[in-house]
Amino acid sequence: MKHTLTYPFYRVTEAAAIAGFAWLGRGDKNLADGAAVAAMRQELNALPIDGTIVIGEGEIDEAPMLYIGEKVGQTRGPSIDIAVDPIEGTRMTACGQSNALSVMAVAEAGTLLHAPDMYMEKLIVGPKATGVIDLHLSLAENLRLISQALQKPLNTLTISILDKPRHAPIIADLHRLGVRVFTFPDGDVSASLLTCFPDQPIDVMYGIGGAPEGVISAAAVRALGGDMQARLLTRIQVKGAGDTHHRASQEEEARCQAMGLTLGEVLRLDDLAKSDNVLFSATGITDGDLLAGIRITESSITTHSLVIDGQQKTLQWLKTVNPLAR
Ligand code: FBP
Repeated sequence: MKHTLTYPFYRVTEAAAIAGFAWLGRGDKNLADGAAVAAMRQELNALPIDGTIVIGEGEIDEAPMLYIGEKVGQTRGPSIDIAVDPIEGTRMTACGQSNALSVMAVAEAGTLLHAPDMYMEKLIVGPKATGVIDLHLSLAENLRLISQALQKPLNTLTISILDKPRHAPIIADLHRLGVRVFTFPDGDVSASLLTCFPDQPIDVMYGIGGAPEGVISAAAVRALGGDMQARLLTRIQVKGAGDTHHRASQEEEARCQAMGLTLGEVLRLDDLAKSDNVLFSATGITDGDLLAGIRITESSITTHSLVIDGQQKTLQWLKTVNPLAR
């Protein structure tokens, strides 16, 4: 693709964020997600693009979610891959908690990894530690390499990790190693990006989260000059044995095979997001570390979005005051 991706994509995440926000604190994450999906689809379909959802909310039989393989846009424009998470933090939205976002990454067709909705192990660092991470090595070895690259002693290194039971032994090891550990309940896209902002305290993001969130994060991390490695994992590998986990894992294995992916193989940043011509957009739903959330008054809805352009190497922080129809 010769030109940059210049459409107002932030309006897509903004529309999804506003639709999801209507369900804030209502205790139903599916209704919040459904509203955000519908708004996102409507905005995408109005754009002059030939878009394919490569990371979505499910597989083709799971419509009406934005499903993997769904065509969006008016098919008159450039062919592009689109990775979406209409609400990154559905539980946070349903519970009125902080750090919920709407996120999307857009790239030239064929340059974003097509991955099923399953788990992914992720290791992410900012630009100063690019090129030193290697998931074939232990986490402790990686942290030593990162600490050398950043010229920071291990005991001043800060790593963020999802606060999930599966990570408890890793967190204990990290404390024994002497690094500072910041845990967060949900939302590893925001945590991944924060490693690339020099004014933020996080040096590394590690842990097992969603693969869709992983590919979206990879697009943004690439655009920000950071580095990431990842591995696809089955439900059994992450959550242990059990009938439902066994069935889910079998399906995941079949999907990986159909998509030409090898389970457990180390994926480098280039495997996850191949091109610098990538655009990432996020809009805050609730206040978070990356973005402020939505504010509503009698006459306006104010949103806060971040647009990262990997080709132009620009970051735009957009505060938009939308008048409310009277
Ligand atoms: P949702 O948007 O689906 O609520 O995802 C939130 C999230 O915390 C992601 O950021 C993370 O990658 C994933 O869930 C982790 O999954 P799980 O909650 O199953 O451990």
